[in-house]
Amino acid sequence: MVEVQVRLARTEDREAVLAFCQNTWENKSDYIHLVWDQWFSEPKGRIFVAVVNEVPVGIGRVFMVSDSEAWWEGLRVDRAYRGQGIARILNSQIEEFLRENNIKTSRCIVRSEDQVMLGMMARRNRKIISYYIPHRNTPISTVESLSGLIFTQLNNSDFNSAWELVNSSEFYGENNCFYIGREVKWQKLKIELFKNLIERGLVWGIKQSDRLVSLAIQSALDRDKEVFWLGYIRGTKESLPILLLELRHLAFQKKYSSIGGFFPTCELLLNYLEKGEFWKSYTGVFSLFEWDNLSIAGNRENLTGSS
Ligand SMILES: CC(C)(COP(=O)(O)OP(=O)(O)OC[C@H]1O[C@@H](n2cnc3c(N)ncnc32)[C@H](O)[C@@H]1OP(=O)(O)O)[C@@H](O)C(=O)NCCC(=O)NCCS
Repeated sequence: MVEVQVRLARTEDREAVLAFCQNTWENKSDYIHLVWDQWFSEPKGRIFVAVVNEVPVGIGRVFMVSDSEAWWEGLRVDRAYRGQGIARILNSQIEEFLRENNIKTSRCIVRSEDQVMLGMMARRNRKIISYYIPHRNTPISTVESLSGLIFTQLNNSDFNSAWELVNSSEFYGENNCFYIGREVKWQKLKIELFKNLIERGLVWGIKQSDRLVSLAIQSALDRDKEVFWLGYIRGTKESLPILLLELRHLAFQKKYSSIGGFFPTCELLLNYLEKGEFWKSYTGVFSLFEWDNLSIAGNRENLTGSS
């Protein structure tokens, strides 16, 4: 067994980490090189590095999306060191860090093809709470406006009706009340966050006779700034297809080269996406996991940091 230490990332780890991340998968490229510098500089994030003989052989990152929620991402182990318990050690060290900082809720997404991760999550009793599929489309230069339906940017005066829409069971789309924030991180769409998103002009909706019938929230994808990225969508059966068209038009007006996002697997919404010529940018499904860091049950690993 190799002797493994886990510590926070240092500037000098960059080269070794990016070198082993070139071989993360056999048939697709990794994105760590596109985000490393930003990850390193963000105070709300922590990159944990597993080292063997001082050489980085694994990483895992958490980002505090709020003062009670953490987003896990970027778990990677150098091919030459896989199957030796390094991810297990990184996992336990990250959990310990979150417990020490009183961060209650953890989330992450796993692709349907990542069987090792899915097994690992299941053995830790981490539950899948939702499924998502990323979609893309091209912007459109014109859209036929339907009488009685008005597409508009929401402002503070729309807050009450918008918040009602988010919380009412009558609408289709995102049911768990999650917003997929900047750089693909799920977080609870809490009232203060929602207010802030409206104030920043990121919430768009369709009104019918002055009643708000659907809304979408803009997000951002730093690693591909050309895409108009969506982080939330919800509305009535009738208005959702129109909202999708209007958003494509908005993306055109804002000079984006494409529009996309992760959409919940709500049958009706998926149907509209298909009819609206959105294509799936991943053929499988992403499982959204959520677990409680502070409960004892899920934390079965030793916390020594070496094996
Ligand atoms: C997934 C990955 C991080 C695992 O790293 P690792 O250091 O090899 O994993 P460990 O040896 O610590 O094993 C972790 C668990 O997975 C199991 N496991 C490891 N390799 C496995 C394999 N090839 N097949 C089945 N199970 C495996 C271990 O038995 C262990 O189970 P347990 O802790 O629940 O008892 C690594 O394979 C990797 O970097 N893969 C590519 C990137 C990736 O998929 N990241 C996750 C994205 S969500």
